Amino acid sequence: MACLSLLSGVHPLPLLLLITLLGPVALVRGVTFRVVNKCPFPVWPAAAPNAGHPVLAGGGFLLPPGQSRRVSAPPTWNGRFWGRTGCNFTSTATNHHGNAAAACLTGDCGGRLACNGTAGAPPATLVEVDLHEDQSKGSSYDVSLVDGYNLPVAVWTKPPTPGAAAADRKCVIPGCAKNVNAVCPPELQVTAAAAVVSCKSACVAFGTDAFCCRGAHGTAETCRGSAYSRVFRDACPAYVSYPYDTAAAAARCYAEVYVLTFCPSRWGAGADRVAQA
Ligand SMILES: *[C@@H]1O[C@H](CO)[C@@H](O)[C@H](O)[C@H]1NC(C)=O
Ligand SMILES: *[C@@H]1O[C@H](CO)[C@@H](O)[C@H](O)[C@H]1NC(C)=O
Repeated sequence: MACLSLLSGVHPLPLLLLITLLGPVALVRGVTFRVVNKCPFPVWPAAAPNAGHPVLAGGGFLLPPGQSRRVSAPPTWNGRFWGRTGCNFTSTATNHHGNAAAACLTGDCGGRLACNGTAGAPPATLVEVDLHEDQSKGSSYDVSLVDGYNLPVAVWTKPPTPGAAAADRKCVIPGCAKNVNAVCPPELQVTAAAAVVSCKSACVAFGTDAFCCRGAHGTAETCRGSAYSRVFRDACPAYVSYPYDTAAAAARCYAEVYVLTFCPSRWGAGADRVAQA
């Protein structure tokens, strides 16, 4: 009632409009991913849901350098985000009836702009998300190089989880200390026009049980990483560098906005600047 008397001088139409606009916001407790491109080139972000979860934003879109886009998700969404690079969708328009040729140099999903739930081709840096509606459980997210690397990406919550600065830091997965493509061993490199555009994981490159942590190597005790996963670990200490990598624990932070930033700092620049971005 106090509210009504405060607003009694307000013209009824804007007030009605205000209520109409605020209504759904108060009722629907969804989550927003704010996807930001700080790379000096376009990125085509993509998202693929796990089984039983909806496709977000058609599954993919163009994000020019310096721009950002908000993607809405249900509060219990599960799936992955990645970025695609070097895309040209006009060149594949002719063979859309058969097996479409790749339209992107990295992260391609069947040659389409809107992946519509299809996962991307490795190697690609993956942001893995597991949202919980129950705030006490916390939603978790990590950045994985298990399928290889194509871009650095940082993930954090906004507003930061209330509490001490230490708690906020726990919710930040920074980008990389080094450009992985620049330190990628030759046998893992994917090149285009003589430039390294992505870096395979040893599992993607060689497919052995030992590198993929399968079979006799399918436990944390028997799969302890390799010289290859240590290249990833050294360049991107906050990322999961092989399937049983426990050094990079998933962040568990509840938030209504998650910020995903491609190229959070300059290539090869220190990762510690990310938190201020
Ligand atoms: C995209 O591909 C088309 C057809 O191959 C080509 O004509 C065009 O120049 C390409 N665009 C860019 C930006 O490379
Ligand atoms: C997207 O995927 C759904 C489910 O597989 C399918 O029904 C729909 O036709 C697809 N849309 C496009 C534009 O490909």
